[in-house]
Amino acid sequence: MPIFNSKILIFLILILTLYIIIYVISKIECKQCKISTFNIKNLKNADKLKIIYISDFHNKMFKNTYDDLILRVFELNPDCIVFGGDFVDFSTFQSKTKSVKYENSLLFIEKIAKYSKEYKSKINYNFKGIFFGFGNHELRLKSRVDDEYLVNVYNKFISCLVNNDIQILDNKTFSISQNMTLSGLSLFEGYYKNLFEKSNVRKSIDYAILDKYFNSINKKVFNIMVFHKPDYCEDLIDYGFDLVLSGHNHGGLINFPFIGSILSPDLKLFPKYNHGNYLYKNKNVIVSSGIGEHFIKIRVNNKPEICLINIY
Ligand SMILES: [Fe+2]
Repeated sequence: MPIFNSKILIFLILILTLYIIIYVISKIECKQCKISTFNIKNLKNADKLKIIYISDFHNKMFKNTYDDLILRVFELNPDCIVFGGDFVDFSTFQSKTKSVKYENSLLFIEKIAKYSKEYKSKINYNFKGIFFGFGNHELRLKSRVDDEYLVNVYNKFISCLVNNDIQILDNKTFSISQNMTLSGLSLFEGYYKNLFEKSNVRKSIDYAILDKYFNSINKKVFNIMVFHKPDYCEDLIDYGFDLVLSGHNHGGLINFPFIGSILSPDLKLFPKYNHGNYLYKNKNVIVSSGIGEHFIKIRVNNKPEICLINIY
């Protein structure tokens, strides 16, 4: 066999081996779920809060239909649960074929709401409730008012939240305690472009938009903002929020030691904010790796994650 052909063969074998390794590791990791703890100092006042933050569910199914996972959550005695969006899974590239999966998300939401009620009555502690911030998948679904089927799915999803007493953080602010607020921002057009969509990409969030929804927040208290895409977290902190909770980048899919995360689900290489706790102007930005997978369904050294955020 000529040398040229044997080099190609070796190269192909290496690629195939790498693919098999990534596939096997990913299959194992995707079935697990870790709880990551973040401790955040409340620099403005003495209020404490324990938040369970769950993002990017993407209609995921775990074995035992979530009971084990939810029990692990309530064993941590959270003061509130915050969902960071992308619970439904809207297939961007097949949107014309109406490929939106949401049934598992409804089941998870119903179960966690049911457990929260049982748990609250059992130990009689001051549980502040469950809050839902929109991700791009819910907002894409909401935007498709032209399609009766998709309008129906959206309405079904919202009804599930409302019927389970879940507060929707749709450009709204809720008072969590005397000195703490929780807000959610829903922006879609121009904020979720992928690698191939260059037109009308928003570089920053206009303060006029933030003023429209959040000009009444008291900047003397501790203000938490849920915005699904972390790329705009610096604008939100500059505006006056003290803590930003995000997701969207799924931990960068593959996390190499020393190199870091390589790709976001919307095909951005080496996303700046992929997972963990980032400090910007002495304020925290927590980016969850999320629980589910979408489009490129790979996770290596990047287990599905629930965040426990202790504000002290
Ligand atoms: Fe997302």
